[in-house]
Amino acid sequence: MEGQGNKIRILDKDTINKIAAGEVIERPASAIKELVDNAIDAGATEVRIEVEKGGKKSILVRDNGCGMSRADALLAYEKHATSKLTKIEDLDTVATMGFRGEALSSITAIAKVEILTRPPEELAGTKVLIHGGQVQESSNIGTAPGTAVHVKDLFYNTPARQKYLKSDKTELAHITEVVMKLALANPEISFTLLSDGKPVLRNPASSELLNSVVNLLGPETARSMLPVESLTGDVVIRGCVSKPELTRGTGDQLFLFVNTRPVSSKAVNAAIRQGYYTKIPKGRYPVAVLSLTLDPQEVDVNVHPRKAEVRFSREKEISNAVTAAVEKTLSEHGLAPEIREKEGKTHQKTLEVREPESRVLIHEKTDVSEKPENGPGKDIGRAAEVPAGGSKLFREKPETYSYPVKDTERRLKRSERLLGITSENEMKEAGKEKEEEKATREERKEKGTEEKTEEERKEKGTQKGIEKGTGEGNGKGTEKRVERAYPEQKPNKKANTDPLEDLRIIGQVSKIYILAEKGEDLVIIDQHAAHERVLYEQILKMKKNRVQELITPITIDLTPKEKVLMEEYIPYLEEHGFGISEFGDNTYVVTFVPDVFGRLEDPGIIHDLISELLAGGKIKKDTGVSEQVCKTMACRAAIKGGAACSLRQMEELVEQLKQAENPYSCPHGRPTVLTFTRGELDRMFARIQ
Ligand SMILES: Nc1ncnc2c1ncn2[C@@H]1O[C@H](COP(=O)(O)OP(=O)(O)O)[C@@H](O)[C@H]1O
Ligand SMILES: [Mg+2]
Repeated sequence: MEGQGNKIRILDKDTINKIAAGEVIERPASAIKELVDNAIDAGATEVRIEVEKGGKKSILVRDNGCGMSRADALLAYEKHATSKLTKIEDLDTVATMGFRGEALSSITAIAKVEILTRPPEELAGTKVLIHGGQVQESSNIGTAPGTAVHVKDLFYNTPARQKYLKSDKTELAHITEVVMKLALANPEISFTLLSDGKPVLRNPASSELLNSVVNLLGPETARSMLPVESLTGDVVIRGCVSKPELTRGTGDQLFLFVNTRPVSSKAVNAAIRQGYYTKIPKGRYPVAVLSLTLDPQEVDVNVHPRKAEVRFSREKEISNAVTAAVEKTLSEHGLAPEIREKEGKTHQKTLEVREPESRVLIHEKTDVSEKPENGPGKDIGRAAEVPAGGSKLFREKPETYSYPVKDTERRLKRSERLLGITSENEMKEAGKEKEEEKATREERKEKGTEEKTEEERKEKGTQKGIEKGTGEGNGKGTEKRVERAYPEQKPNKKANTDPLEDLRIIGQVSKIYILAEKGEDLVIIDQHAAHERVLYEQILKMKKNRVQELITPITIDLTPKEKVLMEEYIPYLEEHGFGISEFGDNTYVVTFVPDVFGRLEDPGIIHDLISELLAGGKIKKDTGVSEQVCKTMACRAAIKGGAACSLRQMEELVEQLKQAENPYSCPHGRPTVLTFTRGELDRMFARIQ
């Protein structure tokens, strides 16, 4: 068919298969998910996963399930070969994890695969070797009952795909997340995950979900979990949710399973959150492990090729049922959300929450939630900032928590202390730095004055003031973005162009902004961004020895995935003054913190800081990690928006900001200072055209 001038060609079967495989198998973690799904479908009670080099070199999934006959084993890797679906109508009632018959064919198309399998009732097993979709060898072999699929050199024949793979640790983090979810979804199956021979995750079979929560989310988290058990219509909701005091900065610990399949559903996540109403501050999330059981006909798992998203035919009702189930749990524990004022009745109308017929409560035996001896990490989350009973203030305006003046004082003092110098050596160093700083600032001023013509300003319409003074910024990256977002912000043409010089502070607006007058201009400073900048630069310069020991060490629970990432982060955290070490399976203990945190009045800060670093889910390049740690530290230690500042404190902050090398933007690239010139004000008020 290929004639001259023909641009369109039909791809050969081999290429088609490889492309299709890439859609199902994106990375080692997706291959593992498919193989473990198969093990679960095969009725296994034990699944063991071993990976090498983040699964890139080798993946072995072994189960003790029903195995395959020789004939089936030879068919299994064919495209659309499945034992789980025979006709289209079955799709509506499919109860197994797999049903498309695509996984094995995809994996075998892009890897070197060895399958060893034996049904328990048969004496001999089968070995099949498939490379790039071609059977190399098949034979009878003695093997344990069940199936072992050994996948080597994933993507060996699709180099384009291989290039997209991340570092071994990052791939391992993805794998760990997948296995963790499958283990939480199937607590009655034993899961073991080994990476390069070392155990990463182990969850022995148990009929109690809480045991899995202890193993996988850690004992501190488990201690804060309350059981959920409800039946609404034909929807059974089981699992556990955290007490309102345990919150996270991201929703990555909302685990949802529908008919034992790990899924994500924004609607259900929102419904869980809704169950807490104002018990949890805006932007924070609870921890939850919820398993929904409902008629398979009501769930469309076919939306996504990797079956991660689900669609419910009665989404609203299901969301309402989830909210009601969470509320019921909280109220049973005396943690009932306040009466809703406006939206209160919406879900109650459609719902009737009943106890399920079988009254087997998950926590009957091990109700650790009420144990009195809450360990030192009991404050994890934002306990210190969120009054346990939900204060009046919180109820009315959950998003604007107000920080006392004392808090500002403390935070400012810390940066002041950091700016102050102690040892002689440092004194010299700092002296040098000061000189350099001064020189840079001079440079910046000169540079500023050079360009200060009205025309230029109009032409560019950008905020020169936030450009890096050292010249290295040159409006690159984030700085550039801010420049565009905040036009017309350039020091005016008067001799004194530094917007921070000679300020007369007028006051504070919304406990967020500092208002000041400079000559005839109006200067506005974002107090959090400004302090963040001050601290960021100090932290960057800070030496390792500027640490303080915690009187009560803080314990933090990490998930196995976070732990994988944490191992990579520890050297960087240590470099910046954290003393942090492993303490039991998923628990870490923090014994030292950088001086910048002062007396650690809120241990939640440390947990937040760490989960924020880990939330990205990947290890950045070496240079990036250190910077990221510094930024997050600065953000956490800085005065918050919502903190009251006295005049003296505001002056102090401006003074500190003036000493910064790059005072005009925060480490994330937001501006710290905006100037409205008299001319601009006049124009805005239409005094002049
Ligand atoms: N671990 C296993 N144990 C027993 N049978 C298996 C296993 N893995 C795969 N199979 C068989 O191979 C078939 C094809 O698997 P797969 O390609 O994953 O498709 P699907 O799971 O969608 O049916 C399955 O339907 C099943 O019969
Ligand atoms: Mg499958």
